[in-house]
Amino acid sequence: MKDIDWSNLGFGYIQTDKRYVSNYKDGQWDEGGLTGDATVCLNESAGVLQYAQTVFEGLKAYRTVDGRIVTFRPDLNATRMADSARRLVMPPFPEERFIDAVMQTVAANADYVPPYGSGASLYLRPFLFGTNAVIGVKPADEFQFRIFCTPVGPYFKGGAKPISIRVSDFDRAAPNGTGHIKAGLNYAMSLYAIEDAHKQGFSENLYRDPATHTYIEETGGANFIFITKDGKLVTPKSTSILPSVTRRTLMVVAEKYLGMQVEERRITLDEVRSDVAECGLCGTAAVLSPVGRIHDHGTDIMLPAGMEKMGPVCQKLYDTLTGIQYGLIEGPEGWVREVK
Ligand code: PLP
Ligand code: COI
Repeated sequence: MKDIDWSNLGFGYIQTDKRYVSNYKDGQWDEGGLTGDATVCLNESAGVLQYAQTVFEGLKAYRTVDGRIVTFRPDLNATRMADSARRLVMPPFPEERFIDAVMQTVAANADYVPPYGSGASLYLRPFLFGTNAVIGVKPADEFQFRIFCTPVGPYFKGGAKPISIRVSDFDRAAPNGTGHIKAGLNYAMSLYAIEDAHKQGFSENLYRDPATHTYIEETGGANFIFITKDGKLVTPKSTSILPSVTRRTLMVVAEKYLGMQVEERRITLDEVRSDVAECGLCGTAAVLSPVGRIHDHGTDIMLPAGMEKMGPVCQKLYDTLTGIQYGLIEGPEGWVREVK
C-alpha cells in the first residue's frame, strides 16, 4: 500500500498510477484501456471547452473488514451517466463496459484503496467530453471517456460534525430540465453560490425549486433526507434534482433494514421548521452528513437532535449504509461487487 496518511485525508485530488481512457470516433468507441498519462491534450475549439459538453459521475471503492476491495452499485452510475450523456447529445459509454472500466481502474490502483477503519475510501470520477473542434453551436462528434480515481476522506471539513447551511437565492439548475443530470455545467453554475456561502460561514447552499422557490430541492453536491419528529424519512421529490444513488439506497435501508416509513414527496421549509427532528445530506462524497442549522433569510432553523453530533436516526442509517459498503452487513443481491 502507498505511504499516505489515510486517516487525515480530506476531499482532494491525489494523482494515482493509472486511469482508463476510451475514445469515440466515426460512430464507435475504441477498445479502451489503462494509461499512466494524467494529461488530456485538446484542440482549442473542442466542444468541451467552447460549449461545456461534458458529464461526469462519482462512485467509491472500499476496503472491507475482511480485506476485499469492493464497489457499490456501479450499475446505477453507469445508467445515470448514459442518461446524462444523452441529454447533452453525447454517445453513452456502454453500461457493461462502464462497470468493467471501473473494475479495471480500481484493480490497477489497488495500492491507493485506503485501509479499513481509516474513514477514507477511493473516489472514482468517470467523465465524458466532446473533443473535436466545433464553432457553431452544435454537439461535437468525437468524444473521450475517462475514469481516474483518488483516495479521499470526509467531504465536509470537521468530519462527522454537523454543518450549517443556508437557503440560497441562487439557483443551481435552470428550470429547463437539466438538474437531474450530472453535467459539468450545473456545477459551474453553482460555483459562485458555493463561494458566497463559504464567505458567509455556511458549508453549503440549500437550493429550492428554480421555478417557484417553494420546495426544497438539494444542495450543490448532495440530496436531502429529513427525519420527522414522528420518525419517518422524508426526501424531496423533484425532476430537477440529481437522482442520488445514496438516497435511493437509504430509502431501502430505512424501510427494509430499519422498518421505517419512507416518503418521497415535496417538502417546504415551513414543514422542516415545525415537523423535522433531523436533517442529513446524502451522496457518494457526503455519505450521510448531519445538518445542525439551516439559515433562512435572517432566521435559523435549528435541528437539536443533530446539532452537536449526528442525530440517533441518521446515525442508524449511516451505520447500516456504511456497514453494507464495508462488508459488516449483508447488502441486497448485486449491491456490493468485488474487484478481483
Ligand atoms: N446531488 C448532487 C448535485 C450531487 O452532485 C451528488 C453527488 O453525486 C448527489 C446529489 C448525490 O448523488 P450520489 O448519491 O449518487 O452520489
Ligand atoms: C459525488 O458525491 O460524487 C459528487 O459528485 C459530489 C461532488 C463532489 C461533486
